Amino acid sequence: MQLKDKVVFITGGAQGFGRGVAEAVLKKGGKCDVTNVAEFEDAFKAAVSKFGHVDVMCNNAGILDERIWEKELEINFTAVVRGTMMALNHMRKDKGGRGGVIINTASTAGMR
Ligand SMILES: NC(=O)c1ccc[n+]([C@@H]2O[C@H](COP(=O)([O-])OP(=O)(O)OC[C@H]3O[C@@H](n4cnc5c(N)ncnc54)[C@H](O)[C@@H]3O)[C@@H](O)[C@H]2O)c1
Repeated sequence: MQLKDKVVFITGGAQGFGRGVAEAVLKKGGKCDVTNVAEFEDAFKAAVSKFGHVDVMCNNAGILDERIWEKELEINFTAVVRGTMMALNHMRKDKGGRGGVIINTASTAGMR
C-alpha cells in the first residue's frame, strides 16, 4: 500500500514496535516532504487547523549525503529557514500569535 497523502495515527511511536511502524510508514511516503513547499505549508496549516495553534516547532528533518549536496541544502538549510519563518509568522505576538519556541536541529560540525 502506498501511503503518500495518507494520514497515519500511531500510538507508542517513540520506540519499539510503534517506532518500527512509523519508520515503515515514512519509507512508503507517508510524510510531508519539507522540500515541497505546498506539502510543508499544508502540513503546518493542518496542525494549526486541528489543534488551534502550534507552540513548539522542531525543524529536525535532515540528511547527510554530500553526493547530493543540492538536496542537502534544500533539506538542511532552505526547509529549516522555511519552517522557521512559518512558525515565526504563526507565533509572533505582535501579529496576534501566542509566542512559542522554535528548535532547529543542528550539528557540532557547524561550529567547527
Ligand atoms: N545523528 C547524528 O549524529 C547527527 C549529528 C548532527 C546533526 N544531526 C541532525 O539531526 C537531525 C536528525 O538526524 P537523525 O540522526 O535522527 O537522522 P535520521 O536519518 O534518523 O532522521 C532524519 C529524519 O529526517 C527525515 N527526512 C529526510 N528528508 C526529509 C524530507 N525531505 N522531508 C521530510 N523529512 C525528511 C527522514 O525521514 C528522517 O525521519 C538531522 O537534521 C541531522 O542532520 C544528526
